[in-house]
Amino acid sequence: MIENFKTEIDLGLSSTTKKLPSKYFYNKKGDALFVEIMNLPEYYLTRSEFDIFKNKTQDLIQHLGLEKNTFFELIELGAGDGTKTKQLLKSLSKENYSFNYLPIDISHNALSLLKKDLQNSLPKVLVHTQQGDYFEVLASLKQSNHPKVVLFLGSNIGNMEDAVAAKFLKNLAANLQTNDTLLLGVDLIKAKEIILPAYNDSKGVTAQFNLNLLQRINDELGGNFNLDDFDHAPEYNEREGIAKSYIVSNRSQTVHITATGNTYHFNKGEKIHTEISRKYNDALLQEIIKDSDLHIQTKIVDSKQYFADYILKKQ
Ligand code: AVI
Repeated sequence: MIENFKTEIDLGLSSTTKKLPSKYFYNKKGDALFVEIMNLPEYYLTRSEFDIFKNKTQDLIQHLGLEKNTFFELIELGAGDGTKTKQLLKSLSKENYSFNYLPIDISHNALSLLKKDLQNSLPKVLVHTQQGDYFEVLASLKQSNHPKVVLFLGSNIGNMEDAVAAKFLKNLAANLQTNDTLLLGVDLIKAKEIILPAYNDSKGVTAQFNLNLLQRINDELGGNFNLDDFDHAPEYNEREGIAKSYIVSNRSQTVHITATGNTYHFNKGEKIHTEISRKYNDALLQEIIKDSDLHIQTKIVDSKQYFADYILKKQ
């Protein structure tokens, strides 16, 4: 991990347009900041998807084609604390559906917290946590012939470049059987006035989240970034439908990183690109799944029509 981190940071800071991979946001501090972000008034994404899970549960159940007398596996990629999914689990359990819930996460800790929580709040639900890489776990689950519903929520797919997202969904579909379904949560394209504040909140939590990447380089790779010399600068382009996060150097400076043995120069105003958050519509999603065996069944949106949970079926 540390070797990959070092190599990717060195590569990103040495290129003509500097960039750092967003996956490195998520250390202990980054996880805690992201939880704070999800509760911010400007960050509507989590609340909008929660609205769907809480108020449109029957639509979800109906469109996923779930039947009470057919056992199925409900698999969640990157389950987190399961707040949204619990709404669905609650209804399924109350209505006596026959299923197992299989949350997959890279974090042992997140999974054991989730399992404990569900044992208390929904004791009838059978939970089998799966720690590891999504695709390794999915490949192992392929052995079973039970129908599968896969949840990939939170617009996590939006943090992937389109080509990467297309490959991800193609791989995912390859691990499913005909008629299995994917519930894919995505943020929808809309006005800049709504999207940009979600990535530039007034309390500056998202700024801390973005700049924590530099702190992490300092802590783990022996960097000497002075965080006060850099600013958080998100952008949103309505035509493209992508929110982009940058860290901007507010003066001309050099930074040394012990682990890479290199010194990096930053001009005043020079940007480091740290994240994309793609927003979707039907046509964009269609384009992204065109080489996979998935097709769009329907989409369920929240009351403000900010967010959509698409239901995709494997052909
Ligand atoms: C995890 N992901 C869907 C978040 C997003 O909205 O792209 C990460 C995030 N970055 C800044 N704020 C939230």
